[in-house]
Amino acid sequence: MDLDKPSELDAALEPYQFDVLINSAGLTDVDRCEKETALAHRMNAESPVELAKICRNRSARFVHLGTDYVFSGTGRTPLTEEDPAVPANHYGRSKLAGDLGVLEVNPAALVARISWLFGPEKPAFPEMILKQALAGSRVSAVADKWSSPTYAPDVASWLLALVGQEHQSGLFHLSNAGACSWQEYGQTVLDAALDAGWPLRATLVDPISMDSIKAFVAKRPVYTVMNTARFTNATGIVPRTWQEAIREHVAGKPVPARDDSV
Ligand SMILES: NC(=O)c1ccc[n+]([C@@H]2O[C@H](COP(=O)([O-])OP(=O)(O)OC[C@H]3O[C@@H](n4cnc5c(N)ncnc54)[C@H](OP(=O)(O)O)[C@@H]3O)[C@@H](O)[C@H]2O)c1
Repeated sequence: MDLDKPSELDAALEPYQFDVLINSAGLTDVDRCEKETALAHRMNAESPVELAKICRNRSARFVHLGTDYVFSGTGRTPLTEEDPAVPANHYGRSKLAGDLGVLEVNPAALVARISWLFGPEKPAFPEMILKQALAGSRVSAVADKWSSPTYAPDVASWLLALVGQEHQSGLFHLSNAGACSWQEYGQTVLDAALDAGWPLRATLVDPISMDSIKAFVAKRPVYTVMNTARFTNATGIVPRTWQEAIREHVAGKPVPARDDSV
């Protein structure tokens, strides 16, 4: 399916029979969304709403992935599903329009907001930090922005738990437990790699401020740690800490030779 063509989604899905449809696709490049606002709106709002309608009409369950970037990030306490969402940038605005639109046309849908996703399937922040540390270049990361890393295999199991309960619907915040800055996140990745015997040339992540990153086009929210109590109350599952998830993630990688890239 092409999410850039909302009006073609119904025909694209026509040949398929399904009970549950999970939409984890979207336009996630925050700075691109700031420049290509119409594309962001089509992919992150119009198409998810269209998919939600299709699922409603077919009596299939719709599961949509949302983001912590719907929040302004000005507070300093973990955000619940009831907290007002006031996005700081167009990515967040397009995703919020998707969350609200999906639940308006299909109240039985599940919208799972996640944050700082990493996992075995594709490179994310941990892989970027490991690559720099292996190469021996100076490693630095933002120390004045906070959220919660979220391990993709954990999200998959949490979504299964929610889908397994037919009456569950609406917004859920999902992330591993705890909070950190990008600098603490990166340092924990390097510490896990060192413990696993990685031949890192750089072992420390230097703190830098978000203001020093001139490449950012879109404004980033500062504090978007989410409260996951609604999910725990619904399923009885307490997400493990982000540090445990990172240790498992790094332990799942082969230890590279000194000059290998990640
Ligand atoms: N990554 C994070 O830290 C993070 C944080 C919070 C929330 N989320 C949310 O989690 C979800 C997954 O994020 P992600 O990091 O996995 O995103 P991602 O790495 O950018 O992947 C986006 C996916 O969308 C697909 N896609 C792109 N353009 C498309 C189009 N026109 N039609 C159909 N599919 C298209 C891509 O396919 P190709 O690979 O073929 O291009 C890719 O599989 C998103 O809803 C995102 O908003 C992510």
